[in-house]
Amino acid sequence: MSKVSFSVNGEVRDLELDTRTTLLDALREHLHLTGTKKGCDHGQCGACTVIVDGRRINACLSLAVMHEGDAITTVEGLGSPENLHPMQAAFIKHDGFQCGYCTPGQICSSVAVLEEIKAGIPSHVTADLTAASQVTPEEIRERMSGNICRCGAYSNILDAITEVAERQA
Ligand code: FES
Ligand code: FES
Repeated sequence: MSKVSFSVNGEVRDLELDTRTTLLDALREHLHLTGTKKGCDHGQCGACTVIVDGRRINACLSLAVMHEGDAITTVEGLGSPENLHPMQAAFIKHDGFQCGYCTPGQICSSVAVLEEIKAGIPSHVTADLTAASQVTPEEIRERMSGNICRCGAYSNILDAITEVAERQA
């Protein structure tokens, strides 16, 4: 067992955990924040994506005790039903889901993707590494490729992200 303290959605949380506990299980089983989903538990689907210190990670591939002092944002911390994050609202408007199981991960990833593009972080499909990154459909598809949707809501997810990116621009 080991103690760990990190903030989740702005609230400091102190836990004592088996050192083998993943961040995903700490969030879901210990803090009862079940918005973050367990799809594969093997880093293959992206359903468990959360934002840690501004970077998106697969919570199933990370041990909770590695996150001492970190600031973690889950889908619950992005917005509330009364006050949705613009990305959450855009997913609803564009019908960017069917069963919804992948959706929290898709939304956390989408929010982080737009920040990555804004910060000039290139992707595998960025042609010109010296130019400011563009929010193109190709860029969004590549950057979202770690988030799998079994329902196949991809085109609507792309529409939602594009709309938020255009509004931000
Ligand atoms: S549950 Fe973490 S990537 Fe699938
Ligand atoms: S909405 Fe069902 S898996 Fe994506």
